[in-house]
Amino acid sequence: MSLTPVLSRYWDEPNSWTLDTYRRHRGYVALGDALRMSPDDVITLVKSSGLRGRGGAGFPTGTKWGFIPQQPGPDGSSPPHYLVVNADESEPGTCKDIPLMLATPHALIEGAIIAAYAIRARHAFVYLRGEVVGVLRRLQAATAQAYTAGYLGRDILGSGFDLDLVVHAGAGAYICGEETALLDSLEGRRGQPRLRPPFPAVAGLYACPTVVNNVESIASVPPIIRRGVDWFRSMGSERSPGFTLYSLSGHVTRPGQYEAPLGVTLRELLGFAGGVRAGHELKFWTPGGSSTPLLTAEHLDVPLDYEGVAGVGSMLGTKALQIFDETTCVVRAVLRWIEFYAHESCGKCTPCREGTYWLVQLLRGFENGTATEADLATLADVAGSIDGKSFCALGDGAASPITSSLKHFRDEYRTHIAGGCPLDPRRSTVFEG
Ligand code: NAI
Ligand code: SF4
Repeated sequence: MSLTPVLSRYWDEPNSWTLDTYRRHRGYVALGDALRMSPDDVITLVKSSGLRGRGGAGFPTGTKWGFIPQQPGPDGSSPPHYLVVNADESEPGTCKDIPLMLATPHALIEGAIIAAYAIRARHAFVYLRGEVVGVLRRLQAATAQAYTAGYLGRDILGSGFDLDLVVHAGAGAYICGEETALLDSLEGRRGQPRLRPPFPAVAGLYACPTVVNNVESIASVPPIIRRGVDWFRSMGSERSPGFTLYSLSGHVTRPGQYEAPLGVTLRELLGFAGGVRAGHELKFWTPGGSSTPLLTAEHLDVPLDYEGVAGVGSMLGTKALQIFDETTCVVRAVLRWIEFYAHESCGKCTPCREGTYWLVQLLRGFENGTATEADLATLADVAGSIDGKSFCALGDGAASPITSSLKHFRDEYRTHIAGGCPLDPRRSTVFEG
């Protein structure tokens, strides 16, 4: 399989982020095309493309748009609709949306205008992770340019369609990437997940029908409109079509973004990235950030699409491929992830709030050599008490590295019982902070 740079094809060009560069690469052509179609036809086209949400869950984008009620209710009234772009990328290892917004902010803005037109929204929001001030400034500047050029505001390109776009910076909490916590935060409240259903498509921002889409999903829409469904479906598989961004990090020779059809394997991606760093071998990896069950060298040829990864008991998630070689202690790596989840737990539900704290205590025992055989069972028990019993996906994500590392590396936990970490942590280049 070869690389298929679409979203990333001119990221390395000087001034890639300017409106001129974007237009030179046929930017905003898809917007004109979409505005000549009816909103329903745009939804049908995106549905037919099979585009699946790139934020992690892989929910079909066109189907989500189709949930928004398009006709007035029985009393003749029609509540406002909103589009919210989830740009709160925070999953450990995940680093695709931030480079996309930095390099080509207009790709996101054009996609957002098309999506808002399709769902008949007059207001769209980009909820951005607050720490990335450089991205905030770039998005704000690009939004101002789009207003001046007539792509945003009143009567866009003479179509009669009006749209206002607001770029909102969050305060840097992982939980605000959970779509309902994000909506609470956007409304000015403390960001904590809401009970679903109702899903945001029914009752979202200000209790109105709202589409929440990931940055990469939205930026993928203009090329699909411009080049068509057949072109998009010529990549990937029937159920996981198209191209996507894979982010390789950790013990890899050339870390970075690799855009390829869904279904590419880690072996192929490592071929593009120069392999595992010289003189070392692959020990374990995550297919989509730390919330996805970790895999090992025996999974090098698993197709990296939703079905392929599910077939080996993991998830595609955000396609953040974190690569760890034999110098990494898996217990220490898991401990670092669980410390993150314990810190970011919003505290709303007991299994996650209490469970992540106890997981950290147990894992520290393994690292410093005070753990017993009984702690191994307790570790699995606490993870089992979180997984599927928490209020939102953060809890499940925290249980996942425990369960999968116990599945593949139980013996390594056992060697810790005998006297602490057998690998000198100072030799691991990834986990020294
Ligand atoms: P989910 O599967 O519950 O929902 C996915 C999307 O589909 C949501 O927008 C939801 O509103 C919509 N949806 C699902 N069923 C629906 C229905 N019956 N009616 C209407 N809409 C429906 O997944 P969730 O909890 O939203 O996200 C979990 C994923 O997020 C994980 O797979 C993880 O990989 C990813 N994630 C990504 C992060 C990042 O930084 N990008 C951070 C943490 C997790
Ligand atoms: Fe909050 Fe964790 Fe419960 Fe989610 S699972 S609601 S982050 S305490």
